[in-house]
Amino acid sequence: MNMEDALSRVVTLAREAGEIAKRHFRTGNFTTQSKGGSDFLTQADSEVDTFLKDRLRRAFPDSQILTEETAPQDYSGLENAESLWIVDPIDGTTNFSRNDEHFAISIALVEKAKAKVGVVYLPVENKLYKAQIDKDNAYCNDQKIHVSDTAALETASVGYDWAWSMESREQMHAFVSKFMTKVRQPRALGSAASDLSLLAEGNIDVYINSGLKPWDIAAASLIIEKAGGILTTPHGEPFNVFKSDLVASNTILHHHFLELLK
Ligand code: IPD
Ligand code: CA
Ligand code: CA
Repeated sequence: MNMEDALSRVVTLAREAGEIAKRHFRTGNFTTQSKGGSDFLTQADSEVDTFLKDRLRRAFPDSQILTEETAPQDYSGLENAESLWIVDPIDGTTNFSRNDEHFAISIALVEKAKAKVGVVYLPVENKLYKAQIDKDNAYCNDQKIHVSDTAALETASVGYDWAWSMESREQMHAFVSKFMTKVRQPRALGSAASDLSLLAEGNIDVYINSGLKPWDIAAASLIIEKAGGILTTPHGEPFNVFKSDLVASNTILHHHFLELLK
């Protein structure tokens, strides 16, 4: 597949999907549905999911597609897929439903658990982040972006967040207790894809989360790498988009932050 062509098509799709989300945003007029536990989805999540799945299927008939709202219970077999589109129709559903514009549409092309094309679009803020594997640099609205040069944890902003599963929250709680008093500013903003994009553009220096799904992180992982950042598990093992726990950073702080977690 031609990556340039694939990226340009999904940029268009992400913008169209953004229009669907914006039609519902702050109307107070959309339905919501429980997904079990505290997790839920809105009408906008379903509509964007259906739209993107349908359009990706038509544009890339030879690829497989994994979307959050139609994912099977067990999708682990897709780790070996050669050409897989992964979609989070709205990352930051709670923010969306509470009229907070910090939410994103995330689309990635993944080959054997590694992102090749990534787009994260925050439609209300009108920020579109993108990267492709065979080109240097990541972009926000066509401007090159780069991770920060923050070199000390005492001056670092650290993004983190909570999963829907209580087990993952317990794990996160243990991580948080290790770094909370050692960094300048802990920030839980409610949308992994958006927060990782903030890291790629240098507004957050480190990000850690537990209980993530491939659709939360696939697109942003490539954007971070192309912006000079790095991702591993909290134990320093290699990252892939099917790992549920991750630390991402501006590279400079990575080792220091992993040491804090020990
Ligand atoms: C959630 C966000 C959040 C993360 C959760 C995700 P959703 O995605 O990315 O930052 O901590 O684990 O489930 O449910 O709003 O698409
Ligand atoms: Ca998500
Ligand atoms: Ca979502």
